[in-house]
Amino acid sequence: MPIQFDSERQIFKLDSQTTSYVLQIGQYGYLLHLYYGALIPDTDLSYLSYTCTHASQLPRVEMDQPVYFSKDVHRMEYSCNGCGDFRGSALSILRSTGTPDTDIQYVSHKIYAGKPKLPGQPATYAAEDEADTLEILCKDHVSGAEVTLFYTVFSVCGAMTRHVVVRNGSDQPMELQRVLSACVDFHDANDMDFIHLYGNWGKERSFERSPLLHGTQSVASKRGCSSHAHNPFIALCSHDATEESGDAYGFNLVYTGNFLASAEMDSDGGARVLIGINPEGFSWRLEPGESFCAPEAVMVYSNEGLGGMSRIFHRLYRNNLCRGPWKNKERPILINNWEATYFKFDEEKLYDIAKTASELGIEMLVMDDGWFGSRDSARSGLGDWFVNENKIKGGLGRLTERVNALGMKFGIWFEPEMVSRDSELFRKHPEWALQTPCRHMSIARYQYVLDMSRPDVRDYLFDCIKNVMDNANIAYIKWDFNRSLTEAGSALLEANRQQEVFHRYVLGLYELLERILTAYPDLLLEGCASGGGRFDPAWLYYSPQFWTSDDTDAIERLYIQYGTSLCYPASTMGAHVSACPNHQVRRNTPLETRGNVAMAGTFGYELDLTKLTDEEKETVRRQCTDYHKYYDLIHNGDLYRLISPWKDHSRCAWSYVAADKSEALVTYVVIRGGVHERYYVRLAGLDADRRYRNETTGQVLAGSTWMNAGICIPEVLHDYDSRVYHLVAVD
Ligand code: DGJ
Repeated sequence: MPIQFDSERQIFKLDSQTTSYVLQIGQYGYLLHLYYGALIPDTDLSYLSYTCTHASQLPRVEMDQPVYFSKDVHRMEYSCNGCGDFRGSALSILRSTGTPDTDIQYVSHKIYAGKPKLPGQPATYAAEDEADTLEILCKDHVSGAEVTLFYTVFSVCGAMTRHVVVRNGSDQPMELQRVLSACVDFHDANDMDFIHLYGNWGKERSFERSPLLHGTQSVASKRGCSSHAHNPFIALCSHDATEESGDAYGFNLVYTGNFLASAEMDSDGGARVLIGINPEGFSWRLEPGESFCAPEAVMVYSNEGLGGMSRIFHRLYRNNLCRGPWKNKERPILINNWEATYFKFDEEKLYDIAKTASELGIEMLVMDDGWFGSRDSARSGLGDWFVNENKIKGGLGRLTERVNALGMKFGIWFEPEMVSRDSELFRKHPEWALQTPCRHMSIARYQYVLDMSRPDVRDYLFDCIKNVMDNANIAYIKWDFNRSLTEAGSALLEANRQQEVFHRYVLGLYELLERILTAYPDLLLEGCASGGGRFDPAWLYYSPQFWTSDDTDAIERLYIQYGTSLCYPASTMGAHVSACPNHQVRRNTPLETRGNVAMAGTFGYELDLTKLTDEEKETVRRQCTDYHKYYDLIHNGDLYRLISPWKDHSRCAWSYVAADKSEALVTYVVIRGGVHERYYVRLAGLDADRRYRNETTGQVLAGSTWMNAGICIPEVLHDYDSRVYHLVAVD
């Protein structure tokens, strides 16, 4: 039984094949957290609620309780504001009295097979035999708030998901100030590290690990998107955790808007993790009878270190988050014209690139920014989604037909959520842009952000996209987003609802994406936000791939893709081979290495192919063949990070191992060459008892030898050289 309730001890135990999560209905009906970690057999874990602090000044329910209990020292399952728990709150509700005191107690629960949907929001999904769900209804008996905590446990892959629904069960309005999606109180966090992924444009998801300290460490976004600056992901791991051993807990929010993820270590050495919508700039008014659903949080535990944690995220996201026909179908190798032409192109230039691409084995042309309105630079045109026939003579229909005649698919770029100040749309509908009364509107990249909470804006965008889709054979859309939200007010909302705009924006975006995918179910969407500024699980529900970064330099990508792989699989990371010197960092790297690094994602090219030499074209041809050969291994295999560029600084290596351990693909890249005659990379994830042949050298060794003694890189390799080895089991 994956979810059990011990009615005598009032304990819930949620087991996957590898993990247990345990909570208890404690004194006065307060939910107490008892345990999260490796699978354990016992259910009687009441002893874990014991705490030895007896300081009389701590708030209690009553002075003369039979057993000592204080909300400030016990491990609380879902912390509330203002009634004695002084650590971070998951829930804070402003009552009609104007006070934010919030206090919830157990009322009832349900356990069932499968997983409920989150209305209007992306979330993981599961068949009835894949996952089980516990719903616990709690109530604040004073304010009338009814709070349902949802827990789903994925039995085989070991992940858990959580979300929360708050219903106003009173006859007065109430205002939600904080509704976080998950709260986990760890008993002992003394030897833990805090990991997060920070960044910037061109430097997304940089890996940072530091000891968890007393007080709160947090990452957040208030930019209206999950952002380049921080990913909605944190992990706690034991100090001794490596890639393959030690405790690792990962938390990721299925949300593409403002988030908060924090870990707070208290003086008793415990720690509270909170993750959910960022309370700063948020409030939500609930009228009597109305409900609010907080986004889903994903929680992963592994005792196989950070690598084990990542592999659970990867399996969950590949199998239970990405959806639609492209979930399992091989993605086309694409050529994107952005770095080849920027805004300077016409249909003949695109056709020439497509023609060369088709001769080399590339399968789709993506026409990037600049095909519409008066868009000859970043200064104008966003919002005017009609084709610029000065550039694309004969229109999109003719161009797509010509490209299709080459045997290639056609994809197109949009940035639907934006409007240029210099555009027909903004002149006609200035009120459609986010803005607040009397305040100057900040401008970024010469554009404003449309108010996606407005149905009329969404209808306009749907019609524009539909018009393009219905008049040309479009297989793919790159959905871009190039600035953050500022002055986030909506002309349609009352003053007391303006703090809802950020979340309503996100809900509006989800609605539009769903509407487009329902109308065009075969469409392949690729998310993008000035590179990887919105790379989060919410997007993966709509688009199974996301442009990882505008930095296409192969060496920079080692760092970016390493960080991204902490929770997102290769099948979701857009990665392209671009020209040298690289446009972002001016570095020259071998074409071979650019291909080997981009192969660790959804593969493509982003350069003017017509300018390649014959020798380079031959390399591209071989890379396209390799992509098909290794597609399944890379996209569905298990990732083992072998050498971290964040640690080693002179090299990086990783491998993909087939689920049945019958083969592996190892990639090794030199960042800074030295005078090493030989270097040995110890592999991981193979079957120790099977023998594997290195297809490049013919050497046959046992899995245990490859993993303990390592694979020998025999040559002297120079800066930016790389090697790929395919190991195949021979018994
Ligand atoms: C930012 C994206 O990340 C680029 O790939 C490109 O599409 C440009 N926008 C176009 O404006």
